[in-house]
Amino acid sequence: QWTTSSIVDDQVARIRAEIGDGHALCALSGGVDSAVAGALVQRAIGDRLTCVFVDHGLLRAGERAQVERDFVAATGVNLVTVDARDQFLDALAGVSDPEEKRKIIGREFIRVFESAARDLKDKGDAEFLVQGTLYPDVVESGGGAGTSNIKSHHNVGGLPEDLQFSLVEPLRLLFKDEVRRVGLELGLPETIVQRQPFPGPGLGIRIIGEVTGGRLDTLRAADAIAREELSAAGLDHDIWQCPVVLLADVRSVGVQGDGRTYGHPVVLRPVSSEDAMTADWTRLPYDVLERISTRITNEVAEVNRVVLDVTSKPPGTIEWE
Ligand code: XMP
Repeated sequence: QWTTSSIVDDQVARIRAEIGDGHALCALSGGVDSAVAGALVQRAIGDRLTCVFVDHGLLRAGERAQVERDFVAATGVNLVTVDARDQFLDALAGVSDPEEKRKIIGREFIRVFESAARDLKDKGDAEFLVQGTLYPDVVESGGGAGTSNIKSHHNVGGLPEDLQFSLVEPLRLLFKDEVRRVGLELGLPETIVQRQPFPGPGLGIRIIGEVTGGRLDTLRAADAIAREELSAAGLDHDIWQCPVVLLADVRSVGVQGDGRTYGHPVVLRPVSSEDAMTADWTRLPYDVLERISTRITNEVAEVNRVVLDVTSKPPGTIEWE
C-alpha cells in the first residue's frame, strides 16, 4: 500500500543513490511537475541542487513571484532567475504565424537555458538534469496518438551534444493526482500544486497576431481578472483551464460613457476535460460570466468586448494557436 509519505521517502532514497554527492540542475516552468520534481530533489540533496527559472515575459500576473517567493520559501532551494524578456520580445517581433511563434519561443528557451546550464556545468555545479516527466508522458512518448503532431510542444529537450546530462526523473512512475499529493506533502503552496495547465509558450500563443509588450500587458490584466473571478466563484475544480485569448488584430466599435471606443475583443475559453485530448466547453454560470465581462471591459482600457468560445475539442483545440 503506497501512501504519499512512503512515495516521498522512497523517491528521496532513490535520488540520493542516483546522484551520490553530485550536483543537479532543474528548470522550473512555474508548473506543477517541475516544481514537485525540484522539491523532491531538493529534499534529497539540499543545496547541491540549483533551479533555473527563465522569465520569458510570456508569464501570467504573479507567476514569477510564485516561483521566486513562494517556491523558494517552501523549499529553501537555490534559485537562479534569468530575465530574458527583451530577448523573447525581440525574437517574436513581426511574427504572427502560430507555429513560427512556437518554434521561436522553444528555440529561445533552449538558448537561454543552455547558457545557464553551461555556466553551472563549467563551475562543476551540475552533472544531473532533473525533469518532471510523468508516467503518462513516458507511455505517450512510446508512440501514442498525442496532439504533438498538431502543435509543436515545447520542453527542455534538444541540448547540444557537448552539454549532456544524466537525467533524473523522480515522477516517472506517478500520475498527476499523485504528483499533486506529493507536492502538498513536501509543503508546496496550493497556488503551485493546484495550478491548472498552462502552455510552455505561455501568453505568446494567446495573442492572435504579433506579440508585443503592450499586448502582453493587456492580456495579462484580462487573464488575471478572469482567474480571480473564477476562483472567487469556487470554480477552479470544475474547469480544466480557461485560456483568455486576445484577438489583437481584430477591432470592434463600442461605446463607453459618452465616447466611441474602437478596441479589441478577448475570448474566454473555459473547458472541462479529463486529459486535454478531448474537451467540452464549460457551462459557466451567467452571473460569473457577467462579472468577468463587466470587470474586464471596465478595467482593461484596450478591451471593449468579451466573447465566449462554445466549441468542444475536437474540432477546436483548447488553445487558439
Ligand atoms: P491543445 O490546444 O492542443 O492543448 O488542445 C492541449 C493542452 O496542452 C496545453 N498546451 C501545452 N502545454 N506546452 C505545454 O506544456 C505547449 O507547447 C502546449 N500547447 C498547449 C494546453 O494548455 C492544453 O492544456
